[in-house]
Amino acid sequence: MSILFSPITLGRQVLDNRVVIAPMCQYSADEGRATDWHQIHLGHLALSGAGLMFIEATAVAPEGRISPADLGLWSDETEAALAHVLQSIRRHSPIPIAIQLAHAGRKASTEAPWAGGQSIAPASGGWQTVAPSALPYAADDTRPAALDEAGLARICNDFVAAAQRAQRLGFNVIELHAAHGYLLHQFLSPLSNTRDDRYGGTLENRMRFPLEVFDALRAAVPDDTPVGIRISATDWVDGGWDIEQSVAFAQELQRRGCAFIDVSSGGLSPLQEIPVGPGYQVAFADRIRRETGLPTIAVGLITEPEQAETILASARPTWWRSLAVCCTTRAGPGTQRRNSATRSMRRNSTGVPSRGHTKTCSSRDKTACRTGSGDST
Ligand SMILES: Cc1cc2nc3c(=O)[nH]c(=O)nc-3n(C[C@H](O)[C@H](O)[C@H](O)COP(=O)(O)O)c2cc1C
Repeated sequence: MSILFSPITLGRQVLDNRVVIAPMCQYSADEGRATDWHQIHLGHLALSGAGLMFIEATAVAPEGRISPADLGLWSDETEAALAHVLQSIRRHSPIPIAIQLAHAGRKASTEAPWAGGQSIAPASGGWQTVAPSALPYAADDTRPAALDEAGLARICNDFVAAAQRAQRLGFNVIELHAAHGYLLHQFLSPLSNTRDDRYGGTLENRMRFPLEVFDALRAAVPDDTPVGIRISATDWVDGGWDIEQSVAFAQELQRRGCAFIDVSSGGLSPLQEIPVGPGYQVAFADRIRRETGLPTIAVGLITEPEQAETILASARPTWWRSLAVCCTTRAGPGTQRRNSATRSMRRNSTGVPSRGHTKTCSSRDKTACRTGSGDST
């Protein structure tokens, strides 16, 4: 029996196999509302036979969108639009579905990748972004506003409200997005968080807001809904967030009832230098799995089933990822646009182009991995 196709449990959610479809922003929503593109895209993926399907980073407030076309869950309208998509999927597929709740922070208010992905200033139809500190991602980005305690409380409440909507919608799993240089990652990293209050400086202080959001979210949904988190294990920049700090963060999350850790990397700084190669992030997931014992999702250029199965069998955590997931780039209008977007997003998200890939995980290893989209048509 292949490890890849053996069951695993995240919290109380049993997955039939260890193939997981990764979250993939589609930049195709309408004022946060899911559209028929999501119905086609997610509908197709839901027929893949994967053990779990993540929908894309979903903003908990309009200001938390990466682009104006990001998916959102902050109102009855955005909830109703997602409900429509989920109902059609549920009529045809039993796949467990996960939502990734996100706030883009200083990386918000940018164009869709196929439109260049540049920061959009408030005067040009964008909005004022917020962050731990008034430090822009790129030098020519609009300077974000540093969040005060009232702003932190507001955003924490936005995550809670979105989690309650996700619960009502029947999502099987909830993931907090604390990776890829978005708001919660911005608090973790000393490169983007230079606060001198109780949310900045020491590791303990920099972890404080992400942990407060995790606790509030965990408390807002029933115990049988697994709540996990995606992290970037390292910024790939000297003096930034790194694997040692990630282990400490993961151990703190484990103490607080985190159901799984999804281990990615990068996205915080344009200065990142990522040594790309097959499974280039697997070692981070392995380390965190060994140090916490939590189910751990690995991702990153795992492209061959044999490669994934070998990694699993060697008791190192990774997953197998089905290239069938790639059908997103083939289906629907604007295929070329989305193909180029997928390629550019890869660069955005992990700093490197990568092809379709696979991943796996083993209950023994309590690890899992993810499927990106992969434009390997
Ligand atoms: C089109 C596309 C959209 C993505 N959107 C998200 C997202 O919404 N949230 C997230 O955490 N990662 C996102 N990612 C990153 C993937 O989930 C994954 O971590 C990345 O593609 C690296 O894995 P790979 O080498 O297996 O592709 C996206 C990647 C791609 C290619």
